[in-house]
Amino acid sequence: MLQLERIESLLTTRELGRNISYYPFTDSTNDDIWELLEQGLAEEGQVVVTDDQRYGRGRKGRRWFSAPEKALTFSVLLLPDIRISQLGLISLGAGVALVDALKAVDVTAGLKWPNDILTDRHKLGGVLIESRLADEGPIVVVGIGLNVNEEVEDFPKDLRSKVTSVNIERGEPGERELVLAKILGRLEELLSGDLNAVPRLWLERCQHLGEMVNFSHRGETMQGKFTGVDDDGHGLVKTSGQTYVVTAGDLDWLEAQPG
Ligand code: BTN
Repeated sequence: MLQLERIESLLTTRELGRNISYYPFTDSTNDDIWELLEQGLAEEGQVVVTDDQRYGRGRKGRRWFSAPEKALTFSVLLLPDIRISQLGLISLGAGVALVDALKAVDVTAGLKWPNDILTDRHKLGGVLIESRLADEGPIVVVGIGLNVNEEVEDFPKDLRSKVTSVNIERGEPGERELVLAKILGRLEELLSGDLNAVPRLWLERCQHLGEMVNFSHRGETMQGKFTGVDDDGHGLVKTSGQTYVVTAGDLDWLEAQPG
């Protein structure tokens, strides 16, 4: 079971995680944050963390699997001082924070656009960003799912060849409390610094720069070379004809890849 006092003792942040709600089980921590907000019970930096998320939501309407008491599953509320067009930078920044936090538990990971966390093309974690626009600016919920202490058998059969965990990568368990504190620390650092630096930091951790990828454009699957990200964090893919700006959806390596 997650130890709240341990998280608090490891936190280096000013705002993020200074209020943590722990639920032994829940449907989705992203939904929990929205609910707390609607009840007037959440302020910037509020975190909801659970040991057992039962109906986790992934990107593109997919389900997200979290192994009880083994995965790190949480959401954080942000009220960033940004334009709505810059939301992609939060998304990329969250990916950077995850990769950097994983170094604290000796795991080298990289990113697939926009924010899949991978080791050797196996998925270690993911980020679901949800936002609403209020009069004061965007309200953003960053939901993070990271595989930490799972063995291969802890995953459903259909996922086993596509995923990995901190435990699998380094041959021993990692401390979820430490990883959570490190992610929040790095995220706060990135958000309070120059957001314009995020695309460069993201690219330094990207696992498919210069590689051929599949991407979808107006409902059609196309192929091209991934050449980078623009200032707002959109993916750039060059085909023989032109460079496409990819604002939504997924990219995939041309060979069959984990989703
Ligand atoms: C992805 O599809 O790669 C993103 C997965 C994000 C899952 C996290 S787990 C915590 C938060 N609550 C949810 O329901 N989803 C996000």
